[in-house]
Amino acid sequence: MLRDLIVKNRSYRRFFQEQAVDIDTLRELVDLARLSPSAANLQPLKYILSCTPEKNALIFPHLAWAGYLKDWPGPCEGERPAAYIIILGDKRLSESFGCDYGITAQSILLGATEKGLGGCMIASVERDQLRKDLDVPSDYEILLVLALGKPKETVAIETVGPAGDIKYWRDSEGVHHVPKRPLDEIIIG
Ligand SMILES: Cc1cc2nc3c(=O)[nH]c(=O)nc-3n(C[C@H](O)[C@H](O)[C@H](O)COP(=O)(O)O)c2cc1C
Repeated sequence: MLRDLIVKNRSYRRFFQEQAVDIDTLRELVDLARLSPSAANLQPLKYILSCTPEKNALIFPHLAWAGYLKDWPGPCEGERPAAYIIILGDKRLSESFGCDYGITAQSILLGATEKGLGGCMIASVERDQLRKDLDVPSDYEILLVLALGKPKETVAIETVGPAGDIKYWRDSEGVHHVPKRPLDEIIIG
């Protein structure tokens, strides 16, 4: 059921790093992106795939993780993503990339979830350094990095409390809690 898949598709930030994700799996996930909607059907998005320790090591240092978890610097060695899909905008095909890349990111992550994987969209990226380290030509804008792997953490959805705090938090057992606003609050008419 789609609802079950969407509930399972949380942002995961700790992984079994040694459980590899192969290049064919990444290609299948990008094929889901390829089939997703695109404004004016311009299809301006391009992708960089990474699933080797060497290439992954070029990407990881340029990502910022879980801004609300102030005491957590991000996943430690052994719990880092086994793969990445970097979403690029081809500036020769479009001047702006609207919500195309959000849609494709969700297609990819739902597909990953269906395969028993998980991931996280990362927009907080040191783009200039990443471009340099991966030799990304200037024709491409770096839009979003998707971190992927076999999740090594439990993520629980809860309802935002009366104080309205939307910050996710981690309990003493390491469970990551994500408050979501109630349905009646977000349907306003
Ligand atoms: C556009 C976008 C950018 C995001 N960027 C980051 C990021 O830079 N670092 C990070 O750790 N999480 C990032 N996230 C994940 C969000 O923090 C996460 O979606 C939110 O906490 C809700 O959790 P959930 O995805 O499990 O529902 C991003 C999510 C979206 C949609």
